[in-house]
Amino acid sequence: MIKAPTSWLQRDAAAVWHPFTQHGQWLDDEPLVVDRAEGPWIYDLDGNRYLDGVSSLWVTTFGHRTPEINRAITDQLAELDHFTFLGATHRPGIELAEELLRRAPEGDRRLSKVFFAGDGSSAVEAAMKMAYQYSVQTGRARQKFVRLDQAYHGDTLGAVSVGGIDLFHATYQPLLLETLEVGSPGVRRPGQSAGDRATECVGELDAVMAEHGGEVCAIVVEPMVQGAAGMLTYDPLFLRAARRVADRYGALLIGDEVATGIGRTGRMWAVEHADVVPDILVCGKGLTGGCLPLSAAMVTDEVYQAFLGAPSQSRTFFHGHTYTANPPAAAAAVANLRLMTEHDLVDRAARLGDRLGELLKPVADHDGVTEVRRLGTMTGIDVRPMGERTGARVCRAALRHGVWIRPLGDTVILMPPLALSDVEVEFLVEAVAAALEEVY
Ligand SMILES: Cc1ncc(COP(=O)(O)O)c(C=O)c1O
Repeated sequence: MIKAPTSWLQRDAAAVWHPFTQHGQWLDDEPLVVDRAEGPWIYDLDGNRYLDGVSSLWVTTFGHRTPEINRAITDQLAELDHFTFLGATHRPGIELAEELLRRAPEGDRRLSKVFFAGDGSSAVEAAMKMAYQYSVQTGRARQKFVRLDQAYHGDTLGAVSVGGIDLFHATYQPLLLETLEVGSPGVRRPGQSAGDRATECVGELDAVMAEHGGEVCAIVVEPMVQGAAGMLTYDPLFLRAARRVADRYGALLIGDEVATGIGRTGRMWAVEHADVVPDILVCGKGLTGGCLPLSAAMVTDEVYQAFLGAPSQSRTFFHGHTYTANPPAAAAAVANLRLMTEHDLVDRAARLGDRLGELLKPVADHDGVTEVRRLGTMTGIDVRPMGERTGARVCRAALRHGVWIRPLGDTVILMPPLALSDVEVEFLVEAVAAALEEVY
């Protein structure tokens, strides 16, 4: 007879399939069972507390359970829990679109309309379909996307098509859309400067577009940092060139700011580091402050106008999700954005990033560390492989020192909540240093 499972972990193993998880060793890793959270701290079932050093999965802005955001959600639930955004509208959806556009990056074009989705991947998917349909409806019908090596844009098939991380994406190759790859400006040869590498990749982009520009509907990029590849930072000259090249060949530039947006790089949007405005800017993750799923694609008027016409012309964007602009999620996002402005959170994030950089200097000199990369608060620490899963071992050791962090292969990621205090950021880095000592 099968014995009934008793502990939460046994019950989990009996019933749950986790994302990006090898269940053959799930229980060996003694996963954390999170019970509650407050500010930057999470607590397990035994009441042990850990600093959340990666903002859950790069989402938390102020911290967990921010009172103002929670109040906005409960106030909204008391008025309207959910209603479709197809054929109807509501106050939180309208307010959020306005708040986002007020904060849109400024430059040679203006993002003037917001399309909502649920997760980052679904917003990327919407952006890709928009770009293709835009090309059709402006008389060009272009089917190809330019993507970067080492890119990550989510796990739905369109998003995987523009990804470039073999470990995650190679399996699905036969199912994917046709794309054109350009080298990653974040992957430098030893001794090569960021500027030289970016220039080299601009050359590749130029060559690809010179040959295929007439078939390309969009160039898709993670601005300034390829997050999931291990926080590969790159020179802004690449983004500026991508903007110019897209315009030259009549392709759209899609800036996927799901990870980099909402203050993570020390600017509201990473494209601001390069003074570039994409035609479609995708955001998600931190939009609601990290408590509810919601994403958006902001688009220029030029893109939007191409979808107008009589219903009989079928120029409509036939795309949308049941929970698009879900009112409590939209209310949370409005509260988060307003609170960020009130507390100057983007500037604070820039200062937090600088402080993190200073504190990490001795860590960068550690024997076990080969490189530290950072833009704002987005930080990747490459550790020297020592047997299997070294990155995971460092993170496991950090947990024993009171910090929850996650690896991407042998890159240890730090991405703390943007409102972390001086004392807390010191605690975070001390735990990382102690974990490195323990592993090496
Ligand atoms: C740049 C980027 N785009 C898209 C996604 C996918 O977002 P989601 O996991 O919410 O679907 C991610 C997730 O990490 C991301 O980093």
